[in-house]
Amino acid sequence: MSSPSFTAIALITGANKGIGFAIARQLAKEYPGYHILMGSRDPERGANAAATLQNEGLSVEAITLDVTDDASIATAARAVQSKFGRLDVLINNAGVALDLGKQDAMFSSTRAIFEETFSVNLFGAAAVTEAFIPLLEHSSAARIVFVTSDLGSLAFRADPQGRDHHVYGPAYRCSKAALNMLALGYAHRFRDRGWKVNMDNPGFTPTDMTGGRGTGTLEDGARNSVRLATLGEDGETGTYSEKEGVLPW
Ligand SMILES: NC(=O)c1ccc[n+]([C@@H]2O[C@H](COP(=O)([O-])OP(=O)(O)OC[C@H]3O[C@@H](n4cnc5c(N)ncnc54)[C@H](OP(=O)(O)O)[C@@H]3O)[C@@H](O)[C@H]2O)c1
Repeated sequence: MSSPSFTAIALITGANKGIGFAIARQLAKEYPGYHILMGSRDPERGANAAATLQNEGLSVEAITLDVTDDASIATAARAVQSKFGRLDVLINNAGVALDLGKQDAMFSSTRAIFEETFSVNLFGAAAVTEAFIPLLEHSSAARIVFVTSDLGSLAFRADPQGRDHHVYGPAYRCSKAALNMLALGYAHRFRDRGWKVNMDNPGFTPTDMTGGRGTGTLEDGARNSVRLATLGEDGETGTYSEKEGVLPW
C-alpha cells in the first residue's frame, strides 16, 4: 500500500544521533510533506530518537537498519515496500571513523581497521543503495545523498598545503575517497533518468565521532545534505560539495 499523502518518503541511515539525526530534524521541519524514516542499527536508540522528533511535531518514524547486515537491510527494504511502496530520498549517512586522528592508537591489525571501516562506510552504503534502488524506481524524483568528507578528497591530500593535509586516518580517508567513486557510479547510472545523486561534506561538526569538537553547529552539518535531498529537476547531479560550495575531487 502506498501513502500518497506524503510529498516524499526519505530514509536516512545512522539517524539516531549526530548529523543523521540533525538531517532528519531539518528535513522534517523545513519540508512538512516529507516523512522521514530514521535508520538505526539499534531499535531502542532508533525509537528514542524518533520519539524526540515526534514530540516536536515532526513526521518521522524509526526503522531498524544495520548497514553491515544484509538481512537487516533486506528487512528494512521490505518494510518500506509494504508500508509506502516507494522511496524518494535515500541519505547514506551512517559512518565510523575508527582511526581518525589516532596515529598512536593500538589497533588489533591494520587489516581489521580497514575492514571494519570499509564495512560501514563503503560496503554498507553500496549494499543499502542497491537494496533500495527498486523502491527509488517508484519515485517521480529520486534523490540520493552520500555523506562523505573533505578528508576523502584526493586533491586536498595530494597538495602539501591542502586542507586537512595533516589529519591522520588512512582507513577513514580511503573509505570516503572510495565512497565518492561509488556515488559517481550511481550518478552516471541514473543521470538519464533524472535522478540527482550527490556527495555532501558536512564539515567539522560536533558529534560523538569528533568527541564533541567541531567548527559548525549540528544544523550547519545537516544543511547541505538537506539541500541535496530536495533538489529540483534542474538541480545538479554527480557533485561533491559542502554548504560553502563545490569541493575538488
Ligand atoms: N562529524 C564530523 O565532523 C563529520 C565530518 C565529515 C563527515 N562526517 C560524516 O558524517 C556522517 C555522520 O557522522 P557523525 O559525525 O554524525 O557521527 P556519529 O555521531 O558517530 O553518528 C554515526 C551514526 O552512524 C551510525 N552507524 C554506525 N555504524 C552503523 C551501522 N553498522 N549501521 C547503521 N548505522 C551505523 C551510528 O549508530 P550508533 O549510534 O548505533 O553507533 C550513528 O547513528 C558519517 O558518515 C561521517 O563520516 C562527519
